[in-house]
Amino acid sequence: MSTQKAVQFSKTGGTEVLEINQIPIPKVGPGLVLIKAAYGGVNYIDTYFRSGLYPTPSLPHTLGSEGAGIVEAVGEGVSKFKPGERVVYYGSGCYSEYIALPEKVISHIPKGLELEQAAAVLLQGLTALTMLRESYEVKKGDTILVHAAAGGTGLVLVQLAKALGATVIATASTDEKLKLAKEHGADHLVNYSGGEEQWVKEVLGLTKDGEGVEAVYDGVGKATFEGDLKVMKRKGSLISFGNASGAVDPFKINRLGDKNLKLLRPRLFGYIATQEEFDHYTQELFGYIEMDQLKVNIHKIYPLEDVAQAHQDLEGRVTTGKLVLKI
Ligand SMILES: NC(=O)c1ccc[n+]([C@@H]2O[C@H](COP(=O)([O-])OP(=O)(O)OC[C@H]3O[C@@H](n4cnc5c(N)ncnc54)[C@H](OP(=O)(O)O)[C@@H]3O)[C@@H](O)[C@H]2O)c1
Repeated sequence: MSTQKAVQFSKTGGTEVLEINQIPIPKVGPGLVLIKAAYGGVNYIDTYFRSGLYPTPSLPHTLGSEGAGIVEAVGEGVSKFKPGERVVYYGSGCYSEYIALPEKVISHIPKGLELEQAAAVLLQGLTALTMLRESYEVKKGDTILVHAAAGGTGLVLVQLAKALGATVIATASTDEKLKLAKEHGADHLVNYSGGEEQWVKEVLGLTKDGEGVEAVYDGVGKATFEGDLKVMKRKGSLISFGNASGAVDPFKINRLGDKNLKLLRPRLFGYIATQEEFDHYTQELFGYIEMDQLKVNIHKIYPLEDVAQAHQDLEGRVTTGKLVLKI
């Protein structure tokens, strides 16, 4: 067998551009590990590539950013992995049956963690963890705001922020989603579907003397950005890390001076660029799971053939937790 199934698109657009094609199984060259995928994680970034919000280097493009599976073969010079081992990994093209990747983007899956859970937690978990450690280092006693708190990244942010000692104000668009955030540790719940004026007032009312929060973690983007500036305390940090509602409009930096605010627009890959960084944060992340401080919440496992439905559900705001493809 020399070909495999892969989800690709040849032009950007809605979910109708997604195709399942036969493409060659990659060769396991020097320094590479060939993995037979079992599951692929679905991430919002996959929808940005598909829609064209983020550019792809060439077309057709094979989608997918992370997965979990079994090592099939290793290339010359590979020392950390051997055939038959269970691994989790990130890289471009993970919605496919086989992928060849360098050692530095692969990690062994600890005992007790299922393949689908590993595929579900790697990127969103590392995103949440690195932002809580580096974008704004959350300290015991801080009050922080997490938007879209019942989403994949949101539920991890809530749990890890609690593990680090913060008080967490969680927003979501429905009471059901807020209930889920509470079950994962959120201290205060705000339904932001009533509009900016209302959620800003509610959030400020939950903070000491109405002064605002130390940090906002915002993956919603355009719809919440202006409100974020209002709910931050003097010297607060706004971590704007996504575009679920659209990209944030251009912004005049002078406005930060009103409260000496810090504004960051981080991408995970800038925090795990070296082998040491990836290994360090992956081990820390798995540690929270082992200590039962982080539960992996899978919304649904979709067959690869239903990838369009998975994208529609994620973009349609009807999911909580993580979406996973069975490959
Ligand atoms: N910078 C990075 O490196 C990085 C890494 C991973 C993820 N991200 C970002 O993190 C964000 C969350 O990603 P995720 O995969 O975990 O998705 P998710 O949170 O599971 O799903 C997105 C959620 O955003 C909320 N939302 C608000 N306005 C929306 C709108 N107009 N359309 C759709 N959803 C809307 C919805 O929750 P409510 O219904 O509760 O509003 C929805 O469930 C995305 O913006 C993603 O790009 C960034």
